[in-house]
Amino acid sequence: VIFDHPIRTDRLVLRPLRSSDIDDVAAYQSIPDVVRYIPWTVKDRAAAITHLAIRSDQTRVESTGDNLALAMELEGRVVGDLTFVYRSPENRHVEIGWVLHPHFQGRGLATEGARALLPLAFDGLGAHRVTATLDARNTASARVCERLGMRREALFREAVHQDGDVQWADTAVYALLARERLDRATASAPG
Ligand SMILES: CC(C)(COP(=O)(O)OP(=O)(O)OC[C@H]1O[C@@H](n2cnc3c(N)ncnc32)[C@H](O)[C@@H]1OP(=O)(O)O)[C@@H](O)C(=O)NCCC(=O)NCCS
Repeated sequence: VIFDHPIRTDRLVLRPLRSSDIDDVAAYQSIPDVVRYIPWTVKDRAAAITHLAIRSDQTRVESTGDNLALAMELEGRVVGDLTFVYRSPENRHVEIGWVLHPHFQGRGLATEGARALLPLAFDGLGAHRVTATLDARNTASARVCERLGMRREALFREAVHQDGDVQWADTAVYALLARERLDRATASAPG
């Protein structure tokens, strides 16, 4: 898949992150609550610039590990981003993830953005499985998964030790299969 044009949802424009997004991205990457349950550290501006440079302008998803980092743009401001990783072309497995600036949480924006990744995965890449991997304490993210129709299908005990954490954290895996998505579409179709 070549991501060559933005995706528009009701409220968002999804498009590749660019280095010029640094002010907006640094604004949420510097907030401890935002990175608490993800394998990122709190970033100062210099670290955010480096991180953004790696994630910017990726538009092709063809091989194992290729990923898209898509800005969630709301009225011209990047309020968060979505990650789309081709974990395995062989097994047609795509992993997705999301981050929102706290000011823009609680409005359904992460779900709205992430929902637009499903056609990209299932229809664009022919994915068989779409998964999300999260810290099991991350209930807000688990609710996004559930709103997307994903099932919690694994819980790995004490799988991650984050810097500064005195305890090991459990990791939850959510998944949606292509046929489950179709079943749901059929079940909700009128008549
Ligand atoms: C995970 C994260 C993106 C979830 O954000 P969120 O704003 O709670 O999720 P959504 O955008 O889907 O919003 C859903 C909430 O908005 C509410 N809402 C308000 N207006 C809405 C609307 N117009 N449409 C839909 N939902 C709306 C919903 O009721 C829901 O609230 P609830 O979860 O308390 O029931 C956010 O907590 C975050 O960025 N966390 C830090 C980064 C992180 O941990 N990422 C995940 C890594 S796995």
